[in-house]
Amino acid sequence: MPLVLGVDSSTQSTKALLVDADDGTVVESRTARHPEGSSVDPRAWLAAFDEAAGPLLPRAAALAVGGQQHGMVALDADDLPVHDALLWNDTRSAGAAADLVEEMGGPAACAEAVGSVLVASFTITKLRWLRDHRPDAARRTVRVMLPHDYVTWHASGQRAEPVTDRGDASGTGYYSAVDDAYLTDLLELALGRVPHVPRVAQPAEQVTTTADGCVVAAGTGDNMAAALGLGLVAGDVSLSIGTSGVASAVSEKPVADATGVVTGFADATGRYLPMATTMNAARILDLHARLLGVDHDGLADLALAAPAGAHGLTVSPYYAGERSPNRPDATGTWAGLTPSTSREDVARAAVEALLCSLADALEAVAQGFDSPGTVERVLMIGGGARNRAVQALAPAVLGRAVTLPGDAEYVALGAARQAAWSLSGSAEPPVWALPESRVLEAAPLPHVRDAYASLRELTAPWTT
Ligand code: XUL
Repeated sequence: MPLVLGVDSSTQSTKALLVDADDGTVVESRTARHPEGSSVDPRAWLAAFDEAAGPLLPRAAALAVGGQQHGMVALDADDLPVHDALLWNDTRSAGAAADLVEEMGGPAACAEAVGSVLVASFTITKLRWLRDHRPDAARRTVRVMLPHDYVTWHASGQRAEPVTDRGDASGTGYYSAVDDAYLTDLLELALGRVPHVPRVAQPAEQVTTTADGCVVAAGTGDNMAAALGLGLVAGDVSLSIGTSGVASAVSEKPVADATGVVTGFADATGRYLPMATTMNAARILDLHARLLGVDHDGLADLALAAPAGAHGLTVSPYYAGERSPNRPDATGTWAGLTPSTSREDVARAAVEALLCSLADALEAVAQGFDSPGTVERVLMIGGGARNRAVQALAPAVLGRAVTLPGDAEYVALGAARQAAWSLSGSAEPPVWALPESRVLEAAPLPHVRDAYASLRELTAPWTT
């Protein structure tokens, strides 16, 4: 029974799973924290990899890394970072995003070229920000990588040229998943020069081996790894509630959504992964729990003690700026406070707001289905999905049954599945049984979504 190592290098931590390659059973797991913040010295992820994955590595026959998408790792001639990595949730490049979209001929042309309308999350916008705000660092930039590329290169002992994969590359803004090609003119447009970028490896490629002979697979973006971990099939939508909120689905066809709501990423198997992402997800629960002086269980108890609609308290939860809808400068808004608003209402409104924003994301992704009514299964995963109030209210707010897969680290599991795939040499990833799932059902609550939609429009920024 060969063992494989799957690693999730996420915004907050590194999680490493040692997994049986034959059936996906998790044999051992370890974690290590990452520094806080939306810009981070990327070498911290290498140290976290060493801490979490290092002790498991000697037992692994193959490894793969799934990483937070989009982060900008810009390196100099000595392969040292020229600047902290700006992460997917850093909005300082919002102006650069707007400029680049215009320079590329507008939203439709941009979506056509790179699959998505650029917002501040995309790597290319961060390179433009570097050019304009840190020109010396931009001039010293010789190589640009994504977080998973950087960690994979480190994991392999830098024994081969850096690689990325089609899934993660599709979130850079300078790669076309349809043509499987970098758009170097866009790199030049953003940074003023064309740095080295990692080779795009094949989905099940054995990229290299470590000094001890462990096969290194290509790795991928965290959302692509989660899709692989869940074994998403046509008709499924995955809803992930982590630092980001993500609705995603696998598709045979590319997406080019000129409204910018759905990003047309590639998946880790040669298909596509249309996706809508929010920047405020589990942190909505964190903030409300902190204000109420309770932990997440306490927040769930309070939320479940309030009625649907929280006595008219509605929250627009774009606390950290937002991307779906694209409001990088947004802050949160509470509406409907009265002298009798209770702590229970404040908790309830948080959970409802989180689920309403995910419902918007889910609907946007479902619009791309051949017929939008054909979503067959909604799978809810991520840390936020462990909250009892989220579980109880999700089917009511989403207005449909929700499948809750058994508790697992699906990004790390998906990375492990890719590693096992690269070992097997087969055309398809290995079939692993998932932990047992539950189906959650509840009567729909359309008025909760209506109140949310009204507040969303009321708080829309003035646009010309
Ligand atoms: C997706 C995105 C986030 C990060 C989180 O576009 O920005 O989901 O991948 O790690």
